[in-house]
Amino acid sequence: MAANESLNHDEAPVLEALERYHEADELAFTPPGHKQARGADPRVTKVLGEAVFYGDVLASGGLDDRLSRQHILERAQQLMADAVHAEHTFFSTCGSSLSVKAAMLTVTSPHRRLLVGRDAHKSVIAGLILSGVEPVWVSPAWDPERHLAHPPTAESFEEAFEAHPDADGALVTSPTPYGSAADLNGIADVCHRRGKPLIVDEAWGAHLPFHDKLPTWAMDAGADICVTSVHKMGSGLEQGSVFHLQGDLIDPASLASRADLLGTTSPSVLLYAGLDGWRRQMVQHGERLLGDALQLAARTRAAIGDIEGLHVDDAEDYCGPGRAADLDPLPVVIDISALGTTGYRAADWLRTRHHLDMHLFDHRRLSAQLTYADDESTVGRLIDALRDLSAHSADLADVPGVDVPTPADLRMEQASLPRDAYFAHLEDVPVEEAAGRVAAEMITPYPPGIPVVLPGERLTEPVLNYLRSGVRAGMNLPDAADSSLTTVRVSA
Ligand SMILES: Cc1ncc(COP(=O)(O)O)c(C=O)c1O
Repeated sequence: MAANESLNHDEAPVLEALERYHEADELAFTPPGHKQARGADPRVTKVLGEAVFYGDVLASGGLDDRLSRQHILERAQQLMADAVHAEHTFFSTCGSSLSVKAAMLTVTSPHRRLLVGRDAHKSVIAGLILSGVEPVWVSPAWDPERHLAHPPTAESFEEAFEAHPDADGALVTSPTPYGSAADLNGIADVCHRRGKPLIVDEAWGAHLPFHDKLPTWAMDAGADICVTSVHKMGSGLEQGSVFHLQGDLIDPASLASRADLLGTTSPSVLLYAGLDGWRRQMVQHGERLLGDALQLAARTRAAIGDIEGLHVDDAEDYCGPGRAADLDPLPVVIDISALGTTGYRAADWLRTRHHLDMHLFDHRRLSAQLTYADDESTVGRLIDALRDLSAHSADLADVPGVDVPTPADLRMEQASLPRDAYFAHLEDVPVEEAAGRVAAEMITPYPPGIPVVLPGERLTEPVLNYLRSGVRAGMNLPDAADSSLTTVRVSA
């Protein structure tokens, strides 16, 4: 059902325009140079199929005419906005990594301040580096027992605004990749009492507007901008992201301009089509699909919880005063510490032995991301493989330990702006000599992509020990100049 009566959710403007393009036998003397697969190497089409190339047409001057007079993208974006209770929606073909930067650069500008939860994704840190914005870090709600960060509480944002009333707005990540969700109503309230906008990095929450048993959706909570990756929890293609806007604190034209600044001039129509078709699917079938997925997740969680040595983290573990406000049960986070191994070792074993790719893994957890695309057969394979993992735990126990610091030891002093440290003269120093120096790079365990170190932070021994022991145990640090962490890049 459309909230706006003039919109019809049976339509999928991008997909329909693509059909018309083919029916009309449009002949392109434009990019893409494969010209509807004709120029594609048969060895490529053998793997990818020709359909990928048929859908890959020029957006403006191909799918739509050179002045976009059919308003194809505009109508698809309006339908998406209507579906998720936003006033404006923008499609992005560069992932939420672009969308979140566009949102930040609209809310604030160089030399100004933004409140940011310290559990932000590395794309947010990239936004700080590019913009020269000063982050006012807001501490996540740490669970010291599980060594896990939940989104910062509304009280933490309140305190941060009290200390820095000049901050232009706030950015919170919710849900986290572990599924824990913030009190978005409370945080939006804290911002709006001061007339400041709230950005929600909801990369993991594309599905939230379509079922009322899921955590609150940012637009419903009154956030001003939210960013979602439709390829994560929805069925868009990789890199398909949308950002949504409401209220009068942000000018839509400024947001569009920032996105234009960062984006490509050759957006993928395939990605647009994926976003457009997913919106129609969700409006028409989302409640049923997600309802079924939630039931499947409940059964799967119970079955995994019955396996010896495995504990499935649930709302009781994550939610409550001073912790998360809610939990999305679709990321099934499994604590395997009782098996005496690490998530890294277990993930490798599951891939090698069972061809299962787990989503997150850390020193004591694994997670399996479920979506409405899963069914009894896929979770059956998961459960069987996890039973096998439990039965083979003795083979997996010869793992180096990870020296996980206390929450207090994880926090480092922000000695200079991320941008200044990143663009300063650099030096690569042996890790043994790095404590006390100011980092000039991000060092990010991936997944989940939350930097442990970011430019401008003064490095400390406990953090370096954590990362070094992590690398020995199998932690992946893809963005560090030296991923083995023999050296660390610091400001000279
Ligand atoms: C919290 C968060 N924000 C933003 C992003 C970036 O999203 P994308 O991969 O769509 O660029 C990610 C990716 O994992 C993420 O976890």
